[in-house]
Amino acid sequence: MKPTRTSDGETGPFADSDANRLDEQRRIIDQLDGEILRLFNERLEVAARIGAIKARLGLGVRDTRREAQVFQRLMSLNRSSLLSNRYVVRVFAALMAAARDVQGSDPRPADGFGTPALFAVFGNPVVHSLSPVMHNAAFAATGYNGIYAAIRVKDIRPAVSGMRALGLKGASITLPHKESVLACLDYIDPTARRIKAVNTIVNDGGSLKGFNTDCDGVIRALAEKISIKGRRVGILGAGGAARAVAFGVIGRGAAATIFNRSREKGEALAVDLGADFRPLSEFAAEGCDILVNTTPVGMSPQEQDTPLCSAQLKPGLVVMDIVYNPLKTRLLREAEAAGCETIDGLSMFVHQGVRQFELWTGLAAPVEIMRMAVEAELMTK
Ligand code: ATR
Repeated sequence: MKPTRTSDGETGPFADSDANRLDEQRRIIDQLDGEILRLFNERLEVAARIGAIKARLGLGVRDTRREAQVFQRLMSLNRSSLLSNRYVVRVFAALMAAARDVQGSDPRPADGFGTPALFAVFGNPVVHSLSPVMHNAAFAATGYNGIYAAIRVKDIRPAVSGMRALGLKGASITLPHKESVLACLDYIDPTARRIKAVNTIVNDGGSLKGFNTDCDGVIRALAEKISIKGRRVGILGAGGAARAVAFGVIGRGAAATIFNRSREKGEALAVDLGADFRPLSEFAAEGCDILVNTTPVGMSPQEQDTPLCSAQLKPGLVVMDIVYNPLKTRLLREAEAAGCETIDGLSMFVHQGVRQFELWTGLAAPVEIMRMAVEAELMTK
């Protein structure tokens, strides 16, 4: 037997037989890949037939509801301990994009089609950010040629200069840079200026423009359940998130009351935005149609905490929590038990990402797929 060198430098008969095993396993992989490819093509042939039927019926190529159903079914079918749902979403998002191509879907935008358009989230810490998984799924699902990465950034100014130099098409900005980034940009959207925070940069031909999509995220998440105009909205907390929520709902014709632990911070925000102020301990559901928790209370690992006691809730109140880790916070569980309508924090997160996607690509965002990609990621964490 010919002595073979292993990766750690040893020689001997084991190395030889392992080399054979490796070849053997690789042959199996090659065979399986061939079968998968054949199945992919078979699937595309069915997609082409569906495309012809859709054309005869006068239906559009894109059916996001059907796509979401396909994902949901696949995720519930997938019982594997090896294959995590995040890969199920990625693989099938790419397959669906190919199917839409076969069905002759709308042409893709000119830029971001040749070399990939680059995007990143700048934050510190950023390792747990769900934005890459969400946006990459959206790119795959729409066939947009983009790549999105998480970059840990300690100092935002050189990072933004780097973005200019490298020609990144867009960036998400997260803690702790949402306020300090304003000074690095060429243009600030009026909403972001008023909220004093930017969570999105669009590179518009070299001009860096700052937006705040957290505000849209809250409004769109709420609007899925209730009309906002004329409602009384109670907001728990008085930080940056509360500012975005208050600005958003007041702008949509609601009356907002800030309920905060510290009077000084709560009153300052209320005066600035034209809201009322009450101490957090005085919250009473009777005066509200909608309640939004913007405090971190109830976030993992303090999952047993809640900003209100269940007796303070009432049936029919719409309760939204911007905490999404866990998805069902104690506040939302108790709200459900009290007969309230609930909205989890993922809705706001996904909708702020939806608005980012629209700003960056000019395409309609695949909302359900983005939500599913994030849910899959949370399930496997
Ligand atoms: P963000 O910018 O993400 O909204 P923040 O600026 O730290 O975060 O604001 C968090 C808000 O949650 C604050 O209003 C804070 O209340 P104080 O102003 O009294 O500090 C509120 N908050 C944080 N922890 C809280 C707790 N355990 N109970 C009640 N409110 C809390």
